[in-house]
Amino acid sequence: LLGALVVLLLLYIISYSRPKSQEHRMDPPGPKLFPLLGNLLQLDLQRPYNTLLKFSKKYGSVFTVYLGPKKVVILAGYKTVKEALVNHAEEFGERDVLQIVEDLNHGIAWSNGDVWKEMRRFALTNMRDFGMGKKVIEDKIIEESHYLIEVFKKFKGEAFDTSQPINYAVSNIICSMVYGSRFEYDDPEFTSMVDRTNRRSQLGGTPSVQLFNMFPWIGKWFANKKEFKKLSEANKKQNSELFSQLKETLNPQMCRGFVDAFLVQKQNLEESGITNSHFNDVNLMTTVRDLFNGGTETTSTTLRWGLLLMAKYPKIQDQVQEEVNRVIGSCQVQVKDRKNLPFTDAVIHETQRLANIIPMALPHKMSQDITFQGHFIEKGTTVYPLLTSVLYDKAEWERPHSFYPAHFLDKDGKFVKRDAFVPFSAGRRVCPGEGLARMELFIFFTTLLQHFRFTRPPGVSEDELDLTPRVGFTLKLCLISSFAYVIIILLTRGHQRICH
Ligand code: HEM
Repeated sequence: LLGALVVLLLLYIISYSRPKSQEHRMDPPGPKLFPLLGNLLQLDLQRPYNTLLKFSKKYGSVFTVYLGPKKVVILAGYKTVKEALVNHAEEFGERDVLQIVEDLNHGIAWSNGDVWKEMRRFALTNMRDFGMGKKVIEDKIIEESHYLIEVFKKFKGEAFDTSQPINYAVSNIICSMVYGSRFEYDDPEFTSMVDRTNRRSQLGGTPSVQLFNMFPWIGKWFANKKEFKKLSEANKKQNSELFSQLKETLNPQMCRGFVDAFLVQKQNLEESGITNSHFNDVNLMTTVRDLFNGGTETTSTTLRWGLLLMAKYPKIQDQVQEEVNRVIGSCQVQVKDRKNLPFTDAVIHETQRLANIIPMALPHKMSQDITFQGHFIEKGTTVYPLLTSVLYDKAEWERPHSFYPAHFLDKDGKFVKRDAFVPFSAGRRVCPGEGLARMELFIFFTTLLQHFRFTRPPGVSEDELDLTPRVGFTLKLCLISSFAYVIIILLTRGHQRICH
């Protein structure tokens, strides 16, 4: 038995060693492998993207690493990531689905093929024009920003943790879009839903869940996976109840939000005899989950980064407030003001660039074999576009590691778009919530800066204000989840002007 085991192990190691490049097949190079663990021991498990950045300097902009037994190709630098995701959108545009994901091939984020196409298109159409047109969403964000201001005011300038109210405000935007209504911040139904979504996202980044993604056969012994599942089940139960309530009061002539629109579409298809469409209950549940997971922690984390950076760089905050005061005064901030607030817009963009909250995008998968920049990448290979390497690309940004809003301004102070600005990724899988997120960031950030001044907590110097991101081992979704956030808020007063 022992002999057989040794033979099996040897066979495994041999089959697992890096494939030799052949004349017609140049596999991307990569660091030395260890049996079973691949390159795991060489990675900084807290910030794997940092190690990958270092690897890219040694192995080039297309290289291979092994996450445990899983072969992964990494794309680094603006030119390479753009060429792959935009010029070869089809080949690089599939999703690699992780073990932890339930409801495989349903919804948007973790599906492929027809399901993905239909669900993504339907969500985009609804976000854009189906009764939830831009103005409607804009009004909802404005309304929500007032609730947020009221919460901030209650602290009367005392230091407090901004994360919960910001999470609630941002989650309410998704609630308005999905269910057609917002919730009060003290509604237990709402708070439990938001808290569960956050906890689930935190767990998704824990080493045990990551281990489960890499070695599913040992994953069943890990407690976190159970908690993850429990949270998902509770979310599903709550959503089922909400969907039932919406079904009972459904008026096809007046859709209140995404769920209504989905139910109407399902009904219409069933009435015309189509019973096997993708507009079914599982896809409804999963797409709603994706909109919440994709659209809450991302936007709220970015907003908190924005406030933290304002506390860290008070002179830049002065400039934002001077511009907002001069252009808008105490009038209501609206999306149309963005073009007149180039400095503020540049600060928001620079926040997203530097915060780099999803450094490795989500895992992509090759839909077919390709020879890319001289390297052979096989159909089915997992590919991570290293967004950090684009957002910090030395060839694209004058000061890649500093907070420097001038990256987005020309010499006359006008806002300039930058192609290497890819926090939402690019190509076929580009974030479908980009338009909504940008609107939220602009209105929430500008309105908060119009009403408050953000400073560091007492006893903490500017230098001490910690900008080091805390990340989980999130090879799935390298989302920076928390950081120093205690901030004092002081009221400011905008000058009076006639508002249009
Ligand atoms: C996917 C970033 C807000 C929904 C993604 C991806 C990134 C991203 C990097 C992965 C793209 C890829 O695989 O290459 C962000 C950032 C946000 C944000 C930085 C805010 C600051 C939102 C919002 C929503 C949303 C507001 C929804 C309302 C999604 C969905 C996907 C996705 C559904 C999966 C897309 C697909 O697989 O086709 N996002 N996102 N995101 N995001 Fe966002």
